[in-house]
Amino acid sequence: MEEKIIVESPGRINLIGEHVDYNGGSVLPASIDKKIIIELITIDGDECHIESSSLKKAFKLNLKKISKSKIQWENYIIGVVYNLLVLKNLKLKAFKCKIDSNLPIGAGISSSSSLICGIISGLNYLNNLKLNSNEIIDIVSDVEHSFIGLMGGIMDQFTIINGKKNKLILLNCQNRNFKYINSNFKQYKILLINTNVEHNLADSLYNQRVKECKEGLDIINKKYKKYKYLVDIEEEVLYEFKSTLKEKIFNRILFVIQENKRTHDSANKIGQSKLKEFGKLMYKSHHGLKELYEVSCEELDFLVDFSSSYNEVIGSRMMGGGFGGCTINLIEENFVDNFIKTISIAYLKKFNMRLDAFQINIDNGVTVKKNNEF
Ligand code: GLA
Repeated sequence: MEEKIIVESPGRINLIGEHVDYNGGSVLPASIDKKIIIELITIDGDECHIESSSLKKAFKLNLKKISKSKIQWENYIIGVVYNLLVLKNLKLKAFKCKIDSNLPIGAGISSSSSLICGIISGLNYLNNLKLNSNEIIDIVSDVEHSFIGLMGGIMDQFTIINGKKNKLILLNCQNRNFKYINSNFKQYKILLINTNVEHNLADSLYNQRVKECKEGLDIINKKYKKYKYLVDIEEEVLYEFKSTLKEKIFNRILFVIQENKRTHDSANKIGQSKLKEFGKLMYKSHHGLKELYEVSCEELDFLVDFSSSYNEVIGSRMMGGGFGGCTINLIEENFVDNFIKTISIAYLKKFNMRLDAFQINIDNGVTVKKNNEF
């Protein structure tokens, strides 16, 4: 019998702890109320029909003949099916799938992990595969690494799967221990500002950062032979290598060690409602991402600098992989509208390009709605 479900898969923000997930560090993300909506229906036969109304594209996929596509977005779905059918040897029914979204693509709020998480969660339900959260998180990583070619960490998928309304997640990416923290920002709101800079090169530059971190870790371990991840290295130990490491590699490691500390400090500050102090850590994080990790760009820097001249914006920094995408800002609620007007004009004047600004709320992670629930 035909069965229909609707999967709502959110994007994610990250308050702080950038580029530390693949270095064994801690992050402070949350799932949000901007989502990808996937309607999935089981059908007879071997041919699946996939349609994206946001991209205005469609394709067919035969379950008996699965191979990578030259069209990248198709691989997000093909990669999942390949993993489940071929690598895990599970049984899948053919399906019809309609994808709609109000999640901006390529804006550093994880639209790609959201799509993969949503498809897996839906197929998991429809085929009664009984995959648990950790297994789903691992499948997403596998699809991203081997089908998409992005050597990302686990922050995005972990958040999309485990997110909770009004909760931040303090996640240790080394052992997946986590705790929920209340996201009470009082009179402040979270505002995302999208540079609308497309980061075509981002994937390769992102992977380059992953490689540089590994190179640094290997050099330090030649002497110490005990560090599994960069975040485990003490700052004093790193300084012993100041003259032997390439300056660029030294800077990458210094950033990772400092950013990881900032995540823990931030969780404490938020817990104690010291929001202005947390905001200062956001600015410091941006400074490190720009100067030491070198993943920012002119447009992101402009937005952060501009924000820093307003007392009402208590924190601002680039968010996600970088090289474009969004800044995340903590801003007084009654200043939001004014601020959006002012910064939009300034941005247009400087770059002859429009920005998009939108407030977000922290919402539940991926949910599957069955026939009687919609
Ligand atoms: C991307 C990756 C994440 C993480 C961030 C940077 O979003 O998918 O795993 O590394 O960049 O913090």
